[in-house]
Amino acid sequence: ASEAMVAAQAAGDLDALRDALEAFEHCALKRGARNLVFADGIPEARVMVIGEAPGREEDRQGKPFVADAGQLLDAMFAAIGLSRAPQTPDAGLYITNALPWRPPENRDPTADEIAMLKPFLIRHIELADPQVIVLMGNWACMALLGRAGISRMRGTWQEVLGRPAMPMTHPAYLLRNPMAKRDAWADLLDIQERLRAKGT
Ligand code: URA
Repeated sequence: ASEAMVAAQAAGDLDALRDALEAFEHCALKRGARNLVFADGIPEARVMVIGEAPGREEDRQGKPFVADAGQLLDAMFAAIGLSRAPQTPDAGLYITNALPWRPPENRDPTADEIAMLKPFLIRHIELADPQVIVLMGNWACMALLGRAGISRMRGTWQEVLGRPAMPMTHPAYLLRNPMAKRDAWADLLDIQERLRAKGT
């Protein structure tokens, strides 16, 4: 973990952080993954979404949230005017995951993996410097709040690195439980409200 801390802290910008992850050889997940999945979207965006880990398609393409859950995620944020490829800078969205490599067979991350890679995630947030963070699902909450329990935490503002952070139900869950979309919609409106209150 201390190698990760040194490597992450030394990164002065997002390109350097990506390079530091490419060069990091202490995490076994990397050996089973095809690609590093660093981030997608607009690094300058006001909103940074943090998911769990790449799945099969994300691992293939080297981009987060590109399969079914990703399509729903894009539709959800489009509904509040945010996207990875925005018409205007303030409509941007920046997307990453708690883990940058796919766990074998999409198994859950381990506590050790999350802890080992956390310095990179923290540095990623510092360098992207978003106004609002979205913790997409239990694993993002585990990584950054140290606890899970998304059904209780969703919809309640938390704090991550001094920034407002909204835990939300993961879109993969919403695909299986469409009834939960109503709560997710309320959370999206909360995020929109927060951005309005901050101006721009
Ligand atoms: N689920 C996630 O949490 N992240 C991805 O990138 C894809 C699916």
